[in-house]
Amino acid sequence: MDMYDMGNHHLISKPKALLGRMIAASMPQGLNQVVYGVSGGEAVDLAIKLARGITQKEDIISVIGCYHGHTGFALAAGDAKFKEKFKPVPPGFKQVRFNSVEEMEKAVGPNTAAVIIETIPATLGIVTPDRAYLKTVKEICEKNGALLILDEVQTGFGRTGKFWGFENYDVRPDMVVMGKGMSGGIYPISATVYDEAYKNFFMEDPFLHISTYGGSEIGCFAAMRVMEISREKSFLDHVRGLGEHFTRRLGQLGDKYPDLGLKVRGKGLMMGMEFKDETTALFLIKLFFDNGLYVVYSGNDPKVIQFLPVLTISTTEADEILTLVETSLKAMSG
Ligand SMILES: Cc1ncc(COP(=O)(O)O)c(C=O)c1O
Repeated sequence: MDMYDMGNHHLISKPKALLGRMIAASMPQGLNQVVYGVSGGEAVDLAIKLARGITQKEDIISVIGCYHGHTGFALAAGDAKFKEKFKPVPPGFKQVRFNSVEEMEKAVGPNTAAVIIETIPATLGIVTPDRAYLKTVKEICEKNGALLILDEVQTGFGRTGKFWGFENYDVRPDMVVMGKGMSGGIYPISATVYDEAYKNFFMEDPFLHISTYGGSEIGCFAAMRVMEISREKSFLDHVRGLGEHFTRRLGQLGDKYPDLGLKVRGKGLMMGMEFKDETTALFLIKLFFDNGLYVVYSGNDPKVIQFLPVLTISTTEADEILTLVETSLKAMSG
C-alpha cells in the first residue's frame, strides 16, 4: 500500500492485470476480457455499449421490475418510474416478465443486441429463476445472434453459495457485470467481463471506453483478497450452510406465526422474506430496526423484505439475528 495509489488509467498496471487473471480464472472458459469501472451502473452501461458495438444491433431486452443502476443505459434498461423525469430516454429498450420464456421468445429478434438479466432479481423480490429459464434465454439469444449479459452485481462473489450466481443455473453468459461486494465494501470497484471472441473490439480504438478511476490499484488489491477468501470451498460451504440454517429457522418462525404469512425464498445468503402484504412487511422493517436489525424491502414488491446477512457471520451471530427476527415477528403477530 505504500507503493500504490489510484493508478494511471493510461498505463499498464500489475494489480489490474493480476486481478483480471483471477476474475478470468473464476469464469467459464473464454470469458476472460475484463474492463474495470467504479460502480455497477457504469459496468452495466459498458456491457450494453459493448453489446451494441459488437453486434451492431440496437435492441436491449430486460426484465420488468429489474434494477441495473441509475446511470445512462442501466437506467434505460430499468423501471419507467426512475427514467420518466429524464426524458428523452435512449430508444431500443424493451422489457418482458421474468421467468416467462414465451415473452422472451417474442421479444428477442433479429435486431436484438442483448438480453440483460440479474441472475436473481433483487428489486423484483429476490425471485429465483425457474430451473431452465436462464439456459433457455441463452438459447433464444444464440438463435438470434444476441448476447446474454448477466448482472451479478448482487449475486456475485459468493452471495448465493456459489462464487457466481449463474453457476447455480447451468448457463454460460456472454458477458458478466460485477460490483458491490467485489471489494468487500471497502473500495469502489466494478467490472464488465466479456467473451474472448470479442477481444478485438477495443483494439482499433482503445479510447472507445475510459474510466479514470475504474480499477484503481487499491481497489484491485481489495478485490484480489476478497476473491482469495470467497473462492475457498470452505467459505462457499459456510454461505450455503448458513443459508440453509436461516431458511429452515425462518420457515419454522413462519409456521409459529402463521397470521404474518411469512414465506422464505432465495439462494445461499441471498434471501427474501415474503409477508402476506406490504403493510406487514413495512411495519416489520421498523420493528426490526428498533430491535437492532437493518433490512430493506424490495422496491418492486414491498411485501418482500430483502434478507442479506454479511457472508462472514458465524452461526452464533446468525442465531442472534434470528432471535431479533423472532422478537419482532412475535410483536407483530396476533
Ligand atoms: C443488480 C444490480 N445491478 C446494478 C446495480 C448498480 O450498482 P451501483 O449502485 O454500484 O451503480 C445495483 C445496485 O444496487 C444492483 O443491485
